[in-house]
Amino acid sequence: MEWTKEQRYRKMDDVTKEEIQALANIVNQCPWRQSFHIQPVTGLLNDPNGFAYFNGEYHLFYQWFPLGPVHGLKHWYHTKSTNLVNWENVGMAIEPSNEFDSHGAYSGSALEHEGKLYLLYTGNTRDQNWNRHPYQCLAVMNQNGDIIKMDNPVIGDVPSGYTDHFRDPKIWKQEDEFYTVIGAQRENETGCVVLYRSDNLVDWQFVGEMKTDLENFGYMWECPDYFEMDEQGVLIFSPQGLEAEGDAYQNIYQSGYVIGQPIDIETKELTHGHFLELDRGFDFYAPQTTMDAKGRRILVGWMGLPEIDYPTDKNGWAHCLTLPRELSIKDGKLIQQPVDELKLLRSERMEAEKIVRNEAITLEDFESETFEMIAEFSASTAKEFGLELRVGENEKTVIKYDAVEKKVVFDRTHSGQPFAEKFGTVRKCKLDAKTVSFRIFVDTSSIEVFVNDGEEVFTGRIFPDKNSQGIRLFANQGQTSVKVVKWEIA
Ligand code: FRU
Repeated sequence: MEWTKEQRYRKMDDVTKEEIQALANIVNQCPWRQSFHIQPVTGLLNDPNGFAYFNGEYHLFYQWFPLGPVHGLKHWYHTKSTNLVNWENVGMAIEPSNEFDSHGAYSGSALEHEGKLYLLYTGNTRDQNWNRHPYQCLAVMNQNGDIIKMDNPVIGDVPSGYTDHFRDPKIWKQEDEFYTVIGAQRENETGCVVLYRSDNLVDWQFVGEMKTDLENFGYMWECPDYFEMDEQGVLIFSPQGLEAEGDAYQNIYQSGYVIGQPIDIETKELTHGHFLELDRGFDFYAPQTTMDAKGRRILVGWMGLPEIDYPTDKNGWAHCLTLPRELSIKDGKLIQQPVDELKLLRSERMEAEKIVRNEAITLEDFESETFEMIAEFSASTAKEFGLELRVGENEKTVIKYDAVEKKVVFDRTHSGQPFAEKFGTVRKCKLDAKTVSFRIFVDTSSIEVFVNDGEEVFTGRIFPDKNSQGIRLFANQGQTSVKVVKWEIA
């Protein structure tokens, strides 16, 4: 079904409870509802927003179109948690309601200030000719969780030299001053990030464009995020318009980062190394980080991409968020590990040790639909070795190491219901290592693989049959020894 503009921009005030309930009934019958990932009650979820530790709890909002699996009038939906594992659905947080956000409360971020949580987001508006006019708007949440929007935007006009693609403010505090980066497009249609400064979160001054070496790197940079760690500056962003290059940039849009010297605010210069993708899988975009009370830098991404149809669409919903990952830096690269609290998900444990030689062996009694698994491969002579998960009569999802090419491979060609095949069904990335370990989280319709303690991560949605639950180990042209531990996730 094609959604008309009227359907996409309907106000929630015009929607009856019965209509939402009818949609929720369809959603709840979907065989691919997740069991331990944040997902929308109905409709479409996209970017994580306003991720913050505030008043003793983690708050995580996301972009939400409640009425169906399409990009329409965007709201902020609010979830919270005390442990990053069990999330409570709080409900609608920011509704587009005035002339400065009439066509969507777009992405933004949060920062605590004087006992309140400040939410800075992009108000998307369209005029009669459907031309876009973005504003940066502020809403404030108190300790009871009440959110009040300010009447006027805190950043109005787009500065000269940039187009109306100007959005997704990410705030931070540095030496008693507040800063925000905003994703932008120059008038020559290249992407970049601009910087603003404030001393009260309400009055903002344009500082200028962040200077990087990436002068001509896609046509728009969405969802920038800047932070410092180990005395280095990290800029994460999601560039649109990069051509595929070998194993890199295979998805419709990319998400990655550069690391370098901390930004020099006076010259706005960020001296940095190469752009690296954050995730080597299929479904990952627009991540956002926060720093928690333990001083950890934690990242959550959208497990999905724009402009792609997913098999859950027919059940009235789409997408979920990734598991939270703790970041660290090693050798100029971000290491991403599942936050320690995720061990709380573990229930029944099983383990096995095997030598696998020119064969595929089924791990009897390991069958599962939702689980965590750690597989460590060592003393390998095989040309390739790995795992097959969610195995059924005609289905399997393959995670393997190609020892000849020295690459990790994620193959979802036979994972189940096909989708997004135009962008290929295999993802690879270089990994030169003697031993290989995969820490894997499998939910009803997704898989996240942390390779060698978070050196690389592969994330992807998969849509297998409920009965495809087998787990197999294999080695081709040689042997490998494998140690496997698996925990059921109930
Ligand atoms: C990224 C994005 C953001 C925008 C939001 C709208 O996925 O396009 O740039 O703020 O989604 O939902």
